[in-house]
Amino acid sequence: YGTFIDTPFIGKLRVRQHTAVGVNENGTIVFIKENCESPDIALLEYNPDININDNVEFINKQCEKEYSTFFFPGFIDTHIHASQYPNSGIFGNTTLLDWLTKYTFPLEASLKDLSIAHKVYTKVVERTLSNGTTTAAYYTTIDPESTKLMAKICSERGQRALIGKVCMDRNSPDTYQESTHESLESSDEVIAYIRNTLKDPKILPILTPRFAPTCSCELMKGLSKLAQSYDNLHIQTHLSENLKEIDWVKELFPDCSSYTDVYYKYGLLTNKTILAHCVHLSNPEIELIKTAGAGVAHCPIANTSLSSGECHVRKLIDEGVNVGLGTDVSGGFSSSILVTARQAHLVSRHLSMKFEDEVDKDHMKLSVVDALYLGTQGGANVLNMGDKLGTFDVGKKFDSQLININSEYDPVDIFHWQVPSENNDSFTMEEIISKWFFNGDDRNTINVWVDGSQIL
Ligand code: GUN
Ligand code: ZN
Repeated sequence: YGTFIDTPFIGKLRVRQHTAVGVNENGTIVFIKENCESPDIALLEYNPDININDNVEFINKQCEKEYSTFFFPGFIDTHIHASQYPNSGIFGNTTLLDWLTKYTFPLEASLKDLSIAHKVYTKVVERTLSNGTTTAAYYTTIDPESTKLMAKICSERGQRALIGKVCMDRNSPDTYQESTHESLESSDEVIAYIRNTLKDPKILPILTPRFAPTCSCELMKGLSKLAQSYDNLHIQTHLSENLKEIDWVKELFPDCSSYTDVYYKYGLLTNKTILAHCVHLSNPEIELIKTAGAGVAHCPIANTSLSSGECHVRKLIDEGVNVGLGTDVSGGFSSSILVTARQAHLVSRHLSMKFEDEVDKDHMKLSVVDALYLGTQGGANVLNMGDKLGTFDVGKKFDSQLININSEYDPVDIFHWQVPSENNDSFTMEEIISKWFFNGDDRNTINVWVDGSQIL
């Protein structure tokens, strides 16, 4: 019970105060009652036979100070390399291809040691949860054993996750490579473990061909078949991040008309495919992605850190492509979707400065609300789970964070003598959200729920 804020579509901030949200034992939202004085009233209206003293737990019943706490949907990270977490903040002056060789492949190879993998994966799940991420699409490494360990850690901790064993059978270092056969076999092994042994509906397998340069045609074809044999499994990969990478793909696949066409030709472009980056797409590539119903994981921190470029997100949205946010740890230095959303906003402003026309300039910019949409409902759409996650609506899962912008260690500093603003004598809800967006961090995320269970 309290204030519920979400972003049901691009540009829309929905604020519901004095609102009761009822969640059943399966973690699904069963009623939402706005402008109600007490949760008991809403509950009895929903079911007059319910015994309030029995199975009912009230959360946040005392929402004492207006605006001080509010529920916000859990963040959705559509692209994060759990295995790269130790390198967050380390990238020197490299760009994508030399960064992979110098920093990334050696780190990923070292996680074959299960005790190291356990340490790293436990930490990354804890860190993302404390930043309010309730769902994440993770890459691990090529190793199936540590990938299973990651699935187990997510399940035990209660985070919703898609877990992908990385597949790469060429153009990889001797110390970190697998054969086509091994790659397909161990992908199947991980799927079987998640589905038949772990059996946690919050944990899903996701096929993970790293990117076209490190995947043979046979491997991509094999993964496409595997996806179909399991009734359309999720797939994740990288696309069009860096100009040298794109040139390399042209050399490797002379018969394909574009980088996107490679994935299309080998059956990897589906309505459950997550494409990370998509910085330098041509119009026909955007059309191909849209027609397939695939989603884009926009990773603005990594795109700046690795000097890859500025993704024209507004254009993708206008063309009808699903877009969400990815921290892309450790191409991205932060595991926070709030920080990533902030960067998406700032990068769009940089991009807008390149446009001459004032109307285009303005349209190009992503507002605070747009960026928060990308980190929640936008991400849910990218995962093809838009009807289950992303907002507070009846029928959806209660995946939520409780934000406090007035706690002892709060970095936001909302001053309560009411700073005059426009025609009001207090901050508007948009201004409160804006202060949280630009100044907030994990200290403001005081609780987290996944599937209706409080896990932080
Ligand atoms: N392209 C291929 N592998 C990677 C990776 O690990 N990170 C990023 N950012 N891009 C990639
Ligand atoms: Zn990545």
